[in-house]
Amino acid sequence: MRELGIIEDGAVLIESGKIAAVGTTDKLRSHELAKAVEELDCRGKVILPGFVDSHTHPVFAAARLIDFEKRIAGASYEEIAEAGGGIRASLCAVRESSVDELANCVLNALNEMSAYGTTTVEAKSGYGLDVASEIKSLEAVHRAAEKWPGTVVATLLGAHVVPPEYRDHPDEYVRMVCEEMIPVAAGRGLKPAPRDRVGDPYGTPEGVPLQDGFHGSPSGERLQTTRFGGRGGPLVRLAEYVDVFCERGAFSPEQAVRILRAAVLHGLKTRIHVGQLTHTALEIFAEFHCGSFDHLDRLTDDDIAWLAKTDTIATLLPAANYFLGLSTFPPARSLIDAGVAVALATDYNPGTSPTPSMPFVLSVACTHVKMSPAEAITAATINGACALNLQDRKGSLEPGKDADIAIFDAQDYRELPYWFGVNRCSRTLCAGKDSSPLRNK
Ligand code: NIG
Ligand code: FE
Repeated sequence: MRELGIIEDGAVLIESGKIAAVGTTDKLRSHELAKAVEELDCRGKVILPGFVDSHTHPVFAAARLIDFEKRIAGASYEEIAEAGGGIRASLCAVRESSVDELANCVLNALNEMSAYGTTTVEAKSGYGLDVASEIKSLEAVHRAAEKWPGTVVATLLGAHVVPPEYRDHPDEYVRMVCEEMIPVAAGRGLKPAPRDRVGDPYGTPEGVPLQDGFHGSPSGERLQTTRFGGRGGPLVRLAEYVDVFCERGAFSPEQAVRILRAAVLHGLKTRIHVGQLTHTALEIFAEFHCGSFDHLDRLTDDDIAWLAKTDTIATLLPAANYFLGLSTFPPARSLIDAGVAVALATDYNPGTSPTPSMPFVLSVACTHVKMSPAEAITAATINGACALNLQDRKGSLEPGKDADIAIFDAQDYRELPYWFGVNRCSRTLCAGKDSSPLRNK
């Protein structure tokens, strides 16, 4: 993770949105494609692959300022959640919002992210917590993705917490996630009614069966929007992944296993929030070959040794520890030293990590998690791409990959985590096109 492959006085040649060649400027000047190129002068800057933010929760309608103040006054995340705050406090606004209102929130977040150098984002649902509102949230992700030049991967997090109406029968909620939510997200369930407005969300499935075997885009392709209107058109799955918040106060390991089995049954890939507040032995999830285990603040040596033998990425989210005011951080050094591939992501969400900034995450990863700047950059680019199974297209500047590039006002890559609280990203290119809405337009 320490090898960045830095090229001094480097250049990147782009053709049709893909990287055609990478090398020194001198060398690329003699490339046959170089004769007729439009040049972007990046002298004195640091050029990186665009960040891959592989864990975000952007489908929410309002900040959670009451939780914020309660925590400052001494309440813990779990105490606030037990008192009706936390994830459940975001429910009403999401249930009452239209798809377009939510899509607008998501798009604003995506634009902020790209202003900080992010070009690929994994976006979870998880604040609707009924079939209609979770599907509406995924649809909002798709609508925002259509308007954003970067790449978005959608994840169903219907199992974020048990909503209040299922408080006394949580297993019934798990059944609903498995038998109703996941099939619809996979394009195999019942079509939700085509409604779009507040107070009249996608409530009652109309009972129109979707054709079996959706024609989804292959993993990692740019999302297309599924229209819920007419019959018979090609169907696109609404989510690539299913996630579960496996935690005390959310879902037990056994419930998580049930949910992830349903995901696999319906052709969706898996990832898990695990070990954020309490420990869960990871091996119980061995059968899923998850793309990623996320948070991992609580790990034993046995977990780390087991993880090192798997292909699963350990995605660390230290901005959440920062924002919760914790003095403990995930054990990145032990993970890296054991040979585990570590990714870093923002965990952008209204409760524990309201930041769109990957450079801020790099800074926390270096100062508090003790990752080196080179390790942090690797974790935020190619390892994030691996966590989304996009390593063939994203995460590094190599010929054949998408020309997703972030340009920083800095002389040295170590300045990225060094300067914090400022945005040094001056330009973001997605598939070769300038996509820096906040700073450059
Ligand atoms: O990753 N841990 C669960 N989900 C989020 C928190 C979501 C919230 O509090 O709204 C997280 O930290
Ligand atoms: Fe999260």
